[in-house]
Amino acid sequence: MAKSKEIKTIGVLTSGGDASGMNAAIRAVVRKAIANGKKVMGIQRGYAGLLNEEIAEMKSNDVSEIIQRGGTILRTARCEEFRHEEGQAQGAEICKKYGIDGIVVIGGDGSYRGAQALANHGVNTIGVPGTIDLDISCTDYTIGFDTAVNTAMEAIDKIRDTSSSHERCSIIEVMGRNAGYIALWCGVANGAENILLPEKYDYNEQAIIDDIIKSRKYGKTHHLIINAEGIGHSTSMARRIEAATGIETRATILGYMQRGGAPTCKDRYYASMMGAYAADLLCSGKSNRVVAYKAGEFVDYDIDEALAMTKTINEYEYQVAQVL
Ligand code: ADP
Ligand code: F6P
Repeated sequence: MAKSKEIKTIGVLTSGGDASGMNAAIRAVVRKAIANGKKVMGIQRGYAGLLNEEIAEMKSNDVSEIIQRGGTILRTARCEEFRHEEGQAQGAEICKKYGIDGIVVIGGDGSYRGAQALANHGVNTIGVPGTIDLDISCTDYTIGFDTAVNTAMEAIDKIRDTSSSHERCSIIEVMGRNAGYIALWCGVANGAENILLPEKYDYNEQAIIDDIIKSRKYGKTHHLIINAEGIGHSTSMARRIEAATGIETRATILGYMQRGGAPTCKDRYYASMMGAYAADLLCSGKSNRVVAYKAGEFVDYDIDEALAMTKTINEYEYQVAQVL
């Protein structure tokens, strides 16, 4: 476990899938740490860049003009070596070599496991939740989710226009390999007729087909199905639905457009607060913690406890989505 000692130099990296708002978090880490009298080192390409020693000092000017930009100026990567003890020990050695005695890791729960490993090797670490999937259990907010759902919602509104004009049925696949939060939120916000989530994988295609035929009889000119990536197979589903209903059915996979773009105000604001909070935690001697947003407040949890927490789709919200 990392020792609590005075921090002089803070490292920052982004890891796993990128998310709009990561730049706001980087900017806040850099500026708050500098305001607290610390030196900041930016690590490129997540844990891969750490192992390759892609490390350079960041000054306040280096984070100018980035709060409004999607993606991450530090780049991101996935790094198989870091899943193993040898890579983790090497990462900790490299931190020592560069005088980095505390690191802020901005990423998803996979990245948190890397952060936990670094802490176990004596590097003070703080995790900041960065993922569009909203699937980090300890927090009600993750950086990038708000931008991603707004991007998806706007795209789905457009698909709805053309779908209604042509009196078609539309299946729209949104991101979320293991989590259905984007699908649930878009399903409600776009007024979808059906919402298919990986957490509730019990959907009955025949029931959807019956529903489409029934709503067509009542005069509905479109039928929107929001399908999460974790269920997938939207194109073959569209073919089967069209064959069974006789109604033209199209599938659209929104894909990576959901991960990019200028962050919303909420993502800029929350990511800024979380980045600053992480820098402050390190400066006050804390380690092995993650920043979270819970019950209207920015808080922090022990990383081991945070990783042991579980979260799933709220049953009430899911039921409401079905009714509406
Ligand atoms: P995310 O952080 O978005 O969940 P990943 O699951 O791909 O994304 O994890 C990002 C990186 O974090 C991985 O490429 C790996 O370097 C590191 N990582 C993931 N799981 C572990 C683990 N169990 N132990 C150590 N490092 C891990
Ligand atoms: O960022 C989260 C996420 O978008 C998941 O929903 C998706 O399954 C995954 O990342 C895909 O990312 P990549 O193709 O970069 O591995």
